[in-house]
Parts: sequence; C-alpha cells; structure tokens
Amino acid sequence: MLAMAGSQRRRSFNRALLRAALERIPEGVESREFDPSRLPFYDGDLEAAGDPDPVKELKEAVRAADLVLLVTPEYNGGLPAVLKNAVDWGSRPPRPQAWDGRPVAIMGATPGRLGTALAQRSLRESLAGLNARVMPQPRILLAGAGALFDGDLRLADEAIGQRLDKFMSAAAEWALRFR
Ligand code: FNR
Repeated sequence: MLAMAGSQRRRSFNRALLRAALERIPEGVESREFDPSRLPFYDGDLEAAGDPDPVKELKEAVRAADLVLLVTPEYNGGLPAVLKNAVDWGSRPPRPQAWDGRPVAIMGATPGRLGTALAQRSLRESLAGLNARVMPQPRILLAGAGALFDGDLRLADEAIGQRLDKFMSAAAEWALRFR
C-alpha cells in the first residue's frame, strides 16, 4: 500500500489520520508513505527534459501499489495544490499512465464542519477521469478534527477508530478486486 497525505505540516490532522490508518493495516501488508511535497510543480519543460527523480519514484510507486491511500485536507473548497500536483504528474506518459486501473481509497480531516467533502469530491473526479478505481464506500470525512486527536495527535475517539477499522478492511477487500 502506498499512502500519501496532502499536508506535511508538523501537526497536520491529515498526517495524523494517515498514521492512524497505517496502524490498522493487517500484519504482513507492506506500506510506504510518499511525501508529495518532494515533487516539483508540474512543468511541461521539466517533463520534456526527463522526469525528475521524485517523479519517477512517484510513478513507480503508484504503478506498483496494490492500493493507494490518499488523505486530503481541504483548501478553499478544493484539493491542496501539493496533492493535485501528484495526481497531475502521475497522469503523464508513458502510457498507460500510472493511475490507470489503480485501486484508490480517499479520506480527509478538517477542523471545519464539512469533513473535506468538497476536496474529496474533486479528488474523486480527477481520479475517475484517469480510470483509477476509487472505493465508493465507506467514506471517512472527519469534521471537527481538533477534538478527535490527543496532544500527541493520536486518534482519541473510539467511534472514529472503529469506522477507520472498517474503512481499512473495506479498502483491503477493494484492492483484492483489482489484483
Ligand atoms: C483551509 N482550511 C479549510 N478547511 C475546510 O474545511 N474547508 C476549506 O475550504 C478550507 N480552506 C482552507 C484554505 C487554506 C489556504 C488553508 C491554509 C486552510 C482549514 C484546513 O482544514 C486546516 O488548516 C487543516 O488543519 C489543514 O489540514 P492539516 O494541515 O491539518 O492536515
């Protein structure tokens, strides 16, 4: 499993959610995290000169992943640029592009009220256009994230923990469908 969060902020709720998710993957399942802020901003001239190393790494990691877990903040009703940039680089040649046929699970957290609904919708739309197989249900939209994590940013809400367990089992089953 490849996991990416759209925030590298030291006290990011989304990275905290990603960490809580990684703690729930079954033993024996390999996981790795990719930091999308390592990617340069997409630029056709850079691409024409040959993919920079982090771009090569991203494309290879997406292609190789049995599941890609994306954890997104919401910025101004949409996707943070850093995560959209990873989607964009992955969508580029060689064909088939990296997202084609890849199973993806999406979740997100915000201190706000709407649980990243708009960012998740936008991410789903982009990935659907790239023929990624985005798990439709269950969904994790964490609103009021400030109250759900403790001072060490560990998930402190039992009900959410149970939903995350179900989400991760469903994601594992989803991934199996596309093996
Ligand atoms: C935000 N935030 C935000 N929250 C939300 O629920 N909907 C939104 O549209 C926005 N818009 C927005 C724009 C910008 C530029 C920033 C910096 C922030 C608040 C956001 O959810 C909050 O900062 C989160 O804590 C960001 O995620 P991490 O870094 O905690 O993972």
